[in-house]
Amino acid sequence: MADPLRLGIAGLGTVGTGVVKIVRQKANLLGARAGREIVITAVSARSKSKDRGVNLSHYAWEDDPVALAKRDDVDIFVELMGGEDGPAKAAAEAALNAGKDVITANKAMLAMHGQALAELAETKGRLIRYEAAVAGGIPVIKALTEGLAGNTINRVMGVMNGSCNYILTRMESAGLTYEEVFAEADGLGYLEADPTLDVGGIDAAHKLALLSSIAFGTQVNFAGIKLKGIESVTIEDIRHAADMGYKIKLLGSAQMTPRGLEQSMTPCLVPATSPLGQLDGGTNMIVLEGDHVGQIVLRGAGAGEGPTASAVMSDVMDIARDIRLPTFGQPAQELEKAPTAKTALAAPYYIRMELLDKPGALAKVATVLGDAGVSIDRMRQYDHPGQNAPVLIVTHTVTSDALDHALAALPATNVVHGTPVALRIENV
Ligand code: NAP
Ligand code: HSE
Repeated sequence: MADPLRLGIAGLGTVGTGVVKIVRQKANLLGARAGREIVITAVSARSKSKDRGVNLSHYAWEDDPVALAKRDDVDIFVELMGGEDGPAKAAAEAALNAGKDVITANKAMLAMHGQALAELAETKGRLIRYEAAVAGGIPVIKALTEGLAGNTINRVMGVMNGSCNYILTRMESAGLTYEEVFAEADGLGYLEADPTLDVGGIDAAHKLALLSSIAFGTQVNFAGIKLKGIESVTIEDIRHAADMGYKIKLLGSAQMTPRGLEQSMTPCLVPATSPLGQLDGGTNMIVLEGDHVGQIVLRGAGAGEGPTASAVMSDVMDIARDIRLPTFGQPAQELEKAPTAKTALAAPYYIRMELLDKPGALAKVATVLGDAGVSIDRMRQYDHPGQNAPVLIVTHTVTSDALDHALAALPATNVVHGTPVALRIENV
């Protein structure tokens, strides 16, 4: 049997303790599958005295994760602390410079510094693996990098933040407002320490940026993502969308277009009967479209101790089996700097507006839409107690430019009250 593979784990929170448990509980299984023993030699966290519900007494303790990363008895540095910069990045760099492979669940760090870290890893002949960073337990990095390596990827889509999906589905099922469900989710500990990472779409956009890089052979470009969180999604829109046969999801989408790389993470409507429409609670779903394979749908737990530790172990096992791939599926130096597409590919849109209920008001709106080249597919007006009527419009496929022109022209009609809501519809 080959020498044991020795892990040094920095970060013993939800994910870190999950990894320790798997390594301890499944030593025989892992050893048999890898052809070598998988062991932990050293660990690090902020507090040495905290009870973590696992026995750490057999492992060396380091207060400083950078010191852990450089230890001679560590082959793989497993970074499970989190944070875009700070100790996570310093320790990952130290590990690579010391000739160790790195495994991380840290999408924030990779979304911001993935290119530089990948270049450093390749200069040093080392690996960075990060299956746990995207969609928790779903093996989507492996699916894209390996399983679909023979395909040109046309599109990557999905629901990549369980907390947002929980909030949106709970608003609908309980008829509660965003503010009420946000408070509930926060109380249940479902949200990140900084909840704007979840509800602002940032966490999900970090994940999308990593998938885009692998799918399209481009440098990670988080800044190029059109980003909008779920804070402004109202219970009214959830109800009205349902009435028209749709669900609202925080949907990530990335595709290479003739105008450049188009990436967005925004609330969108999807058909209620589609797999994405039926995705409830904290579950994640990724849709991959390849030219030969067609559409692949991956569904599973996007967070939590077990699923995320499972993904970390997938990386550990690959390294133990000597499966060595570039960070983003091809050498980092060869990844293109794709231009960001300024406008979105044409799509149908859902528009909700409050319309002054008087003769000719609807005609004025229809004229503005028509003049901008926006064609109405379906329309509905609801009962209303006051003088403003809620009106819903589903458009035919339209460019985002045409839609923006129409929305900009609506106030001049003097019949639209407030700001209309416009959400893209993805018929997947
Ligand atoms: P967590 O529960 O907050 O644990 C973080 C751990 O890092 C704690 O053990 C903490 O020590 C330690 N730590 C923080 N700063 C440190 C420092 N300067 N030096 C040494 N140790 C330090 O976080 P988590 O949920 O396990 O997440 C870890 C990583 O996995 C993050 O990048 C996160 O985005 C990612 N991730 C998490 C999930 C999930 O479901 N939780 C899913 C996917 C990806 P103390 O315990 O002593 O405070
Ligand atoms: N906060 C994330 C989510 C979990 O809700 O999906 C880790 O990525």
